[in-house]
Amino acid sequence: MITGASAGIGEEFARALAAEKQNLILVARREERLSALARELSGAHGITVEVLAADLATADGTDQIAKAVEASGWTLKGLVNNAGFGDRGAFTELSLERQLNMIQVNVTSLVALTWKLMGNLKASQEGFIINVASTAAFQGGPNMAVYYASKAFVLSFTEALHEELRDTNIKVSTLCPGPTASEFATEANIAETKLFKAGAMTTQAVVRASLAKRRKAIVIPGLTNKLTVWFGKLSPRLMTRRLAGWLQA
Ligand SMILES: NC(=O)c1ccc[n+]([C@@H]2O[C@H](COP(=O)([O-])OP(=O)(O)OC[C@H]3O[C@@H](n4cnc5c(N)ncnc54)[C@H](OP(=O)(O)O)[C@@H]3O)[C@@H](O)[C@H]2O)c1
Repeated sequence: MITGASAGIGEEFARALAAEKQNLILVARREERLSALARELSGAHGITVEVLAADLATADGTDQIAKAVEASGWTLKGLVNNAGFGDRGAFTELSLERQLNMIQVNVTSLVALTWKLMGNLKASQEGFIINVASTAAFQGGPNMAVYYASKAFVLSFTEALHEELRDTNIKVSTLCPGPTASEFATEANIAETKLFKAGAMTTQAVVRASLAKRRKAIVIPGLTNKLTVWFGKLSPRLMTRRLAGWLQA
């Protein structure tokens, strides 16, 4: 199952896992996009691709998904919690509703879906969970305060889960991409920032790195992103958060 499969990184996860001949369940709000992708991938790879339209910004989005899985008797082998979005602006100038929706999609629904589907995943011989965080997870992000905090949660939560499940059949990994070419930058109003103008990775390169290391606790795709995180760890927090704020002013 891949959430946020109607665009960007999630769509690329769908393409890459379809090429591995995995049957898929695609989740997002834009059902027409999911259905078109499902037709394309099932035709090209001879796999079964199911579509579940759900809004993960609502409290019952994950219930809807869990009930559909149970009713259909699907057995899950992997869960890619990828759906997410950001927004740029001073905390008090951005709408509270949009920022709370961000926490619901990026954090609460990710946790809820993982919890609700864990029993199903455990029944699989070799399961995996990939939670999509960001290089934003490693420092505070002025002008995107809630987004950065939501990704810090995803990183911390997923690292802990990785350890809890280390000796089980489920491998848990956090994907931490940096700027990546998708609809994200436009949605988050950061396409014109120094951060994105410096260059973005392709979704193909990001997903290739993630799937190649899907058993690893933390995957940071690309040398620039690895160096950025490494530099951040060696620097005072004051410096890294100021730099993050400057890059997306
Ligand atoms: N692109 C980057 O630079 C970057 C960097 C680091 C981390 N990330 C993370 O990577 C993940 C994927 O982002 P992306 O770059 O692929 O962005 P994207 O192209 O904008 O795709 C976002 C996906 O999330 C889904 N989504 C958003 N809100 C949703 C909701 N309320 N309910 C269900 N699905 C929802 C969207 O589907 P619908 O609109 O159809 O619902 C879409 O499929 C996100 O978690 C993002 O934070 C991205």
